[in-house]
Amino acid sequence: SSPATDSKDLRAKLVLLGDSGVGKSCIVLRFVRGQFDPTSKVTVGASFLSQTLALEDSTIVKFEIWDTAGQERYAALAPLYYRGAAAAIVVYDITSPESFSKAQYWVKELQKHGSPGIVMVLVGNKADLHDNRSVSSQDAQDYAEKNNMFFIETSAKTADNINQLFEEIAKRLP
Ligand code: GTP
Ligand code: MG
Repeated sequence: SSPATDSKDLRAKLVLLGDSGVGKSCIVLRFVRGQFDPTSKVTVGASFLSQTLALEDSTIVKFEIWDTAGQERYAALAPLYYRGAAAAIVVYDITSPESFSKAQYWVKELQKHGSPGIVMVLVGNKADLHDNRSVSSQDAQDYAEKNNMFFIETSAKTADNINQLFEEIAKRLP
């Protein structure tokens, strides 16, 4: 058969959830535009971006990304964005234990109300701030394993592990 019929192109709705200020919008900006904005503004409601990713086996994945607002006042809107999502990225900031607790809240909500079989990824962002780390990688890894999630630490600032994050999601899509 021809290469054209062999290539399986995928579209995947993806949602980012997590406390305000953990770096969700910066992760998306880094992945989509290769940039970092140190003066990133809080997201209002949610924002939408799409980006394609070519995998090693030449599969093309088109991510349709919903970057939600982490401020508490927007929490009730979240179901609008995670409904029907193939994957969810739950983000915390490795310097903030409060943001790790908030991540666990989102994991529980997704387990209760997300699509069955949703691919869930736990992301510890701001890995460049390791001198101020207050969530250990081991604790996060243990939590992720118990909840059947992939875990990775990233830095939107340095770009560390950002592409790997989206590649790992693509590999796990049904
Ligand atoms: P909401 O839209 O309110 O939910 O916040 P958010 O999660 O989208 O946070 P945002 O991406 O706007 O980033 C918040 C702040 O953290 C900004 O000042 C960013 O510059 C900073 N930031 C984001 N990612 C990183 C990172 O990897 N390292 C460091 N050092 N700072 C980061
Ligand atoms: Mg944002």
